[in-house]
Amino acid sequence: MNNEQYNSRRDFVKKTGAAVLASSIVLPNISTGKEKIQVGNSDTLKVGLIGCGGRGTGAALQATKADPNVHLTAMADLFGDQIIASLNNLKQENPTKIQVSPDNQFVGFDAFQKLLATDVDVVILATPPSFRPGHLEAAVDAGKHIFSEKPVAVDAPGIRKVLEVAKKAKSKGLALMSGFCWRFETRKRDTFKRVLDGKIGDVTSVYNTYNTGGLWYKEPKANWSPKETMYRNWIYYNWLSGDHIVEQAVHSIDMMSWALGDIHPVQVTATGGRQSRVQEQYGNVYDHFSIIYEYPNGVNGYHISRQQQGCSRDYGIDIMGTKGRCEVDVSSLHRITRKGKVWNWEGEKNNMYQTEHDELFASIRAGEPFFDGQQMAYSTMLAVWGRMAAYTGQTIKFDEALNSNEILSPDISKVNWDLDWPLKEVAKPGITKFV
Ligand SMILES: NC(=O)c1ccc[n+]([C@@H]2O[C@H](COP(=O)([O-])OP(=O)(O)OC[C@H]3O[C@@H](n4cnc5c(N)ncnc54)[C@H](O)[C@@H]3O)[C@@H](O)[C@H]2O)c1
Repeated sequence: MNNEQYNSRRDFVKKTGAAVLASSIVLPNISTGKEKIQVGNSDTLKVGLIGCGGRGTGAALQATKADPNVHLTAMADLFGDQIIASLNNLKQENPTKIQVSPDNQFVGFDAFQKLLATDVDVVILATPPSFRPGHLEAAVDAGKHIFSEKPVAVDAPGIRKVLEVAKKAKSKGLALMSGFCWRFETRKRDTFKRVLDGKIGDVTSVYNTYNTGGLWYKEPKANWSPKETMYRNWIYYNWLSGDHIVEQAVHSIDMMSWALGDIHPVQVTATGGRQSRVQEQYGNVYDHFSIIYEYPNGVNGYHISRQQQGCSRDYGIDIMGTKGRCEVDVSSLHRITRKGKVWNWEGEKNNMYQTEHDELFASIRAGEPFFDGQQMAYSTMLAVWGRMAAYTGQTIKFDEALNSNEILSPDISKVNWDLDWPLKEVAKPGITKFV
């Protein structure tokens, strides 16, 4: 958590008073015995990219543009063609900063280990999220600063591991930044700061959406095995993606958490299923979720998300308070209404993805490494928790969710081309057990 977020939460707690403090469960503190790793301003910072798909390529470009002396020097991916495509794109966009020799291009499930053994200072983790806890642990053990795409795990054991690894990163003085990108967008920072400062009074409910169409599907090529087809289409397998609520809709859930000061709910009830996207090629994920997050003092967070073709779309958040209302449509509207007066965000929109890396590299140069390791784990947990409640049809409390022993994804050391990880059948509420 950075200072701004910490202060926001502290202000929220101060503002909402002792009644909330007594009943709410605030995220635990992480010890801060950090040894500072100082980087001279003229030193070249070398970056390694693990997971060279769409987002990883974008993040690598933003990293190399964040600071005059940052070079991409190593790349790792499960598939060689992904590295080639990514490298070609990057060389076109920022040729002088891309210096990845053939010796520093690594392919396979163990490619991350080979990349971490090079002299990179910073790593970008952008594979499917099932691998994130293992990659995070290895990167922290190797002493690298980290930009980790969201989500950071797909199940509660993964979250628990990330919380441990985050503690270690903090104590080693390593930067750990997650890709919860809306937290870096000026419009949202300005808008949610007003909510946290009490402009709409005490928040009474939050409604948030992530309603989109269908996503991409990669048609199998003649030389792809069924396993390769699965890994290429990872978003449709819940052991790889966590389901679309964890992989995508987590952005809306993260905004809800932000607006509520990152305290966490008491219990969660949900429903969901798959109605439109039922073919075998779509693995075992749902195509819609509806969730009620019950926060302390009767504050409710309502989330709906869907990935269904031909339906209306909506991606936003609507926050009701005792003195007003805050409405956000992520790409356009940022409005606060209070006692008949309307505030609309005005200004020049920033590129949040670039701001992430600008702030990350500036923090490393300053010897004050950015750290949101705890918050990234809890925001991811909110989505995992919602999925558990939807899959099982049960109302689940915080401790139950965080201590769940449901293992969707195996330890990274077990994942290789010989692994036949059993695909769970599509969850059936009331029949699928909570474990
Ligand atoms: N913050 C955002 O706005 C945002 C946007 C898009 C994606 N994402 C996140 O970024 C991550 C990647 O998504 P994407 O859209 O780039 O997917 P993608 O499929 O385009 O890229 C994933 C890459 O990881 C590689 N890969 C798979 N398993 C691997 C392994 N074990 N080791 C190394 N490489 C492996 C794949 O071959 C692929 O090149 C996901 O967690 C996703 O949720 C975030």
